[in-house]
Amino acid sequence: MQQKIGFRGLGAYVPERVMTNEDWTRYVDTSDEWIVERTGIHQRRFAGEKETTVDLGMAAARLAMEEAAVQPGELREIIVATDTPEVYNPDTAAYIQHQIGAGEVPAYDLAGSGCAGFLQAVDLACSRVAVRGGPILVLGVEAISKIMSWQDRNTCVLFGDGAGAMVIDQGQDLVEVLAVTTGTDGSKADILGKEIGGTRVPFSKEVAEDNVHNRVVMNGREVFKEAVSRMSAAAHEVLNQVGWSTDDIDLFVPHQANIRILHSVAKSLGFPLEKVYINVQDYGNTGSASVPLALWEARNKGMVPAGSKVLLTAFGAGFHWAAVLLQF
Ligand SMILES: CC(C)(COP(=O)(O)OP(=O)(O)OC[C@H]1O[C@@H](n2cnc3c(N)ncnc32)[C@H](O)[C@@H]1OP(=O)(O)O)[C@@H](O)C(=O)NCCC(=O)NCCS
Repeated sequence: MQQKIGFRGLGAYVPERVMTNEDWTRYVDTSDEWIVERTGIHQRRFAGEKETTVDLGMAAARLAMEEAAVQPGELREIIVATDTPEVYNPDTAAYIQHQIGAGEVPAYDLAGSGCAGFLQAVDLACSRVAVRGGPILVLGVEAISKIMSWQDRNTCVLFGDGAGAMVIDQGQDLVEVLAVTTGTDGSKADILGKEIGGTRVPFSKEVAEDNVHNRVVMNGREVFKEAVSRMSAAAHEVLNQVGWSTDDIDLFVPHQANIRILHSVAKSLGFPLEKVYINVQDYGNTGSASVPLALWEARNKGMVPAGSKVLLTAFGAGFHWAAVLLQF
């Protein structure tokens, strides 16, 4: 029987500290009403004072490994999608490899691909499993509260911290990845991102004095438009790959950027809202953790029984986008 490729373990983690919209009014000129109306976000989770990207990632990874019944020594590779690494260099994957107790296997970050990073990593892991075998641990993890500006109301209220993990493998008894697509439009690279600290604008005393070192650059309206069109197009592409329509899908799990983006993508694809999983109200935009966190919650609530067909899609800085079709 032909081997399937997919995931056999899924885990997620959010830190305990709750940051409400009301809490944000102590830092910036904003209101619960504005945030809820424009984004649908009511609260988000922030990492504790001593909690870092690796801590969040490890918590999700342990759950996924346990569910997959995979021992650390069996891992063939580790891929970490994050825009908020543990340190600037080396990558977060090196720390995860050591802490989880994996062998001396390839471990690397997909850094900077924003909220699409996790699905890009899934795409990569599936092809690596096909060539070299599995299992591969894939993480999407962000602790953005630690390194974003808490003074920029245009961006700070949007984000939250969290982690999601999958163990990708081949075999029969797994959730199959039926189709994947990923893409990039680098002509829009400067529309969303964190520019300070790279070689173009190195970190300096001046940028620190201007208090822009943690600034997230974002043209909100352009991001909004592109997010809707790219996620919708990516979703259509994976459906076309298998000859299905949106009617065949049991649950749609898009990147949890903003409630208005979610509603627009669902509408453009023709999904009734009952078929769309939404948790942005509780966690905000958790970047690369958003899709696995939402899928994990939906699965734990019994929303994807055996046989379910699930469509995932994401969009982020780059611009990068991706979609994945799953058969439970
Ligand atoms: C960011 C976003 C919510 C802003 O909503 P919008 O309807 O486009 O709002 P506008 O840009 O028209 O801003 C309206 C006003 O609200 C103000 N504003 C911005 N953030 C605010 C906040 N947190 N509280 C109160 N007012 C705020 C702006 O300063 C602006 O004021 P002005 O008109 O006096 O200049 C929206 O553009 C969006 O969701 N974009 C996508 C962002 C995203 O998802 N990024 C991550 C993608 S992976």
